[in-house]
Amino acid sequence: MAVKILVFLLLAICFCSSLALSSQIYQGKWKLLKRSIGISAMHMALLPNDRIITFDRSNFGPSNITLPQGKCTKDLHTTDCYAHAVEFDPATRNIRPLTFLTDTWCSSGALSPEGVLVQSGGYRLGELVVRYLKPCLDCDWEEDPNGLMSPRWYASNQILPNGKIIVVGGRFQFSYEFIPKTSVSDSTLYQLPFLKETRHSPQIPNNLYPFLHLSTDGNLFIFANDRAILLDYTRHRVIRNYPVLPGGVSRNYPSTGSSVLLPVTLSTNSRTTPDAEILICGGTLPDSNKKADAGVFVPASNSCGRLKITSENPNWVMEEMPFNRVMGDMILLPTGDVLVINGAAKGTAGWGVAREPVLNPVLYRTIPCNGVEINKFEILSPSTIPRMYHSTAHLLSDGRVLVGGSNPNINYNFSTNFPTELSLEAFYPPYLLMSNKPRPLITAIKPGVLLEYNQNISIEFELRAGDNHDHAHVGDNIYVTMVAPSFTTHSFAMNQKLLILALDGPVQKIGSWNHVAKGHAPASGAVAPPGHYQLFVVHEGIPSKAKWVKIM
Ligand SMILES: *[C@@H]1O[C@H](CO)[C@@H](O)[C@H](O)[C@H]1NC(C)=O
Ligand SMILES: *[C@@H]1O[C@H](CO)[C@@H](O)[C@H](O)[C@H]1NC(C)=O
Ligand SMILES: *[C@@H]1O[C@H](CO)[C@@H](O)[C@H](O)[C@H]1NC(C)=O
Repeated sequence: MAVKILVFLLLAICFCSSLALSSQIYQGKWKLLKRSIGISAMHMALLPNDRIITFDRSNFGPSNITLPQGKCTKDLHTTDCYAHAVEFDPATRNIRPLTFLTDTWCSSGALSPEGVLVQSGGYRLGELVVRYLKPCLDCDWEEDPNGLMSPRWYASNQILPNGKIIVVGGRFQFSYEFIPKTSVSDSTLYQLPFLKETRHSPQIPNNLYPFLHLSTDGNLFIFANDRAILLDYTRHRVIRNYPVLPGGVSRNYPSTGSSVLLPVTLSTNSRTTPDAEILICGGTLPDSNKKADAGVFVPASNSCGRLKITSENPNWVMEEMPFNRVMGDMILLPTGDVLVINGAAKGTAGWGVAREPVLNPVLYRTIPCNGVEINKFEILSPSTIPRMYHSTAHLLSDGRVLVGGSNPNINYNFSTNFPTELSLEAFYPPYLLMSNKPRPLITAIKPGVLLEYNQNISIEFELRAGDNHDHAHVGDNIYVTMVAPSFTTHSFAMNQKLLILALDGPVQKIGSWNHVAKGHAPASGAVAPPGHYQLFVVHEGIPSKAKWVKIM
C-alpha cells in the first residue's frame, strides 16, 4: 500500500516535474520494434491507414532488402534489384518493399487531401520527379518524370488551404512552385530572392530544407538560416520581414536545427484568426561544417527561439534546452507538448561530420501544468542507438513516436563509428506509462469522421477505471486535438500541425464511463488544410489513441 502511494505521488509529481527531479528518474521508455527494416529510414511519413512509409536514397548500391519476385529496376547505367523504400505496419511489424525508378535522395513530401503521399524531387534523374503512393495494401509508387519545373534537392513542402502543395527552394534553387500541376498558374516558376540572401555560401548554405509553416491567416511563414518572412503565395509578395533570430546560430542544413508551429488554439468564434507561434530549436554556428571537415567538432547550440508570427510587433523569446543539439527532430505529441529527439551535440549534418549523439529526448511543455508555469524542458529516458545524420521520427496513432534511420555514411557501411542504422524503435512518452489515470477511449465522432469546416461535432469517449486505478481520478482537464501527419526528413517534420479544438462548455458525463465533448471542426483551410488528421482526446495529460478524421 505504502509503495502504491509512493508510486502515485512520484507519478503525480513527475507529471509536472522539474529538471532536477527528472534528472534522477527519467520518464518514458524505448522499445526496439525491428532490428532491420532493410533500409535506413531517411524520410518518413504516415498514411491514413496507419502504415508508415519510409525511404532512403537509391542508386548508391545495395540495401539490406531486395525487391520482390526477383524484380529489378534500370536507369542509364545500372541495374538495381534492391528496395530503397518500405511500408511498415506498426501493428504487425510487417514490412513491404516498394519500388523507385529514380533517386529520392534528400527529397520532400506531403500528404494530399485524398490521403495520397506526394513526394517531390531528389537527385540526378530524380530531381524533377513527383511520385505518388496511394494508401492501399498493394499499391506502389507511380512516378511523373516531369512533375517539377526546377530540380528540387533539399527543398521543403507545405500543403495549402486549396489542397495544393507548395515546394520551396532546394540546392541552388531560389524559387518555389506548386504541385500537382493542374492549372496554368501551376506551370509558372516563382522567384524568391530571400533564399539567395540567406545562403551562407554555395558550399555551406545553412538555409536548405527551409522551415515552412502555414500561418493561421493563410500566408506562408518561411524560415531560412536565421531569418524569416511571411509570403503571400497567391500574390507572390513578401508581406512581412520578421526580426533576425538572435545569437548568430544557423538553423538550416547543414547547420540543421528544427522547427514547429506550436499548438493552435481554435476559438468558438470562427471569424477570429487564432494566434500562430513558432518554436525553433538547435542548430549550430555557421562555420561548424567547415570546421568539422577539418576535424574540429564545435558544440551545437542549446538555444531555442519562440516567435508569435501573428503579432503586430513580434520579438523572439529565447529559451535554453538542457542539451546542445544539432539534427534534433521536433515532434508534436497529441497533448500539444513538443518532443525534441535524435541528433548530436557536436558537429553538423553531412557525411561523418557529427560527434556525441544526444540519446535523451527532451520534452518541451507548451501547456502549463494545472495553470502553473513550470520548468519547460524535461529530460526523458535515453535510447541506446545513436540517431545521427539521416534519422527520422514520426508520431503514431497509438501515441508512441517511431524513430528510425541514421546514416552518415556514403553507402551502407556497418563498420564506421556511426554505422548505417536499419532499425526502428518506438519511444513511449511519459503519458503512456501513467497507469494511475484512465486513458480516454474515443467511441464515436458525430455526425461522422468526414468533417466540414466549422461544423458542430461531438466526440464521445470512455474514461474507464481499470485495475491500476480503482480510485480513478476523472479530472476536468480534458481537451480535443487534431494532428496533421508530417513528412519528416533532415530533422524537419513538414506539414506537422496540432489544433486544439474549440469546445462548447465543459465535457458532459453521459453514462457511468461515457463522456461527450461538444465543439466545432476547424473553421477554414487556413487553420486546417483539407485532408486527414489524427483526432485525440486528452484527459489529465493522457491522450487517447487517434481516430482518423478527414476535413474537406
Ligand atoms: C546488412 O547486410 C550486410 C551484408 O549482407 C550484413 O553484413 C549486415 O549485417 C546486414 N545488417 C543488418 C542490420 O541486417
Ligand atoms: C566503410 O567506411 C570505412 C571508413 O570510412 C571505409 O574505410 C570503408 O571502406 C567503408 N566500407 C564500405 C563497404 O564502403
Ligand atoms: C452549433 O452549435 C451552436 C452552439 O455552439 C448552436 O448555437 C448552433 O445552433 C449549432 N448549429 C447547428 C447547425 O446545429
